[in-house]
Amino acid sequence: EHPKTLTQAPIGQSMLEVAHRNDIELEGACEGSLACSTCHVIINSTQVYDSLPEPDDDENDMLDLAFGLTETSRLGCQVFASKEIDGMVLSLPKATRNFYVDDFVPKPH
Ligand code: FES
Repeated sequence: EHPKTLTQAPIGQSMLEVAHRNDIELEGACEGSLACSTCHVIINSTQVYDSLPEPDDDENDMLDLAFGLTETSRLGCQVFASKEIDGMVLSLPKATRNFYVDDFVPKPH
């Protein structure tokens, strides 16, 4: 069992930001500009993977370069928190660490 971290993700926040806010070692060298593959995450459910908007060509090109690519790999900076992904579990191929996403809807002011 890899260590797991329960995270809360405001709707619309990217998994890269969620990781960073929770001290999860997801690199994200290009800070979300689709110029690296260091934010590679693996979604531990094909159902959740299928519910996400499809990766675009740029993301697919970068994913092709990712270490340990799987059928449910995505770039963390391109996956955004939504109701659909509540309870999603992600694995990080490099750090071999999992984290859960728990949707968190900020209260309106
Ligand atoms: Fe570089 Fe996501 S941080 S592609």
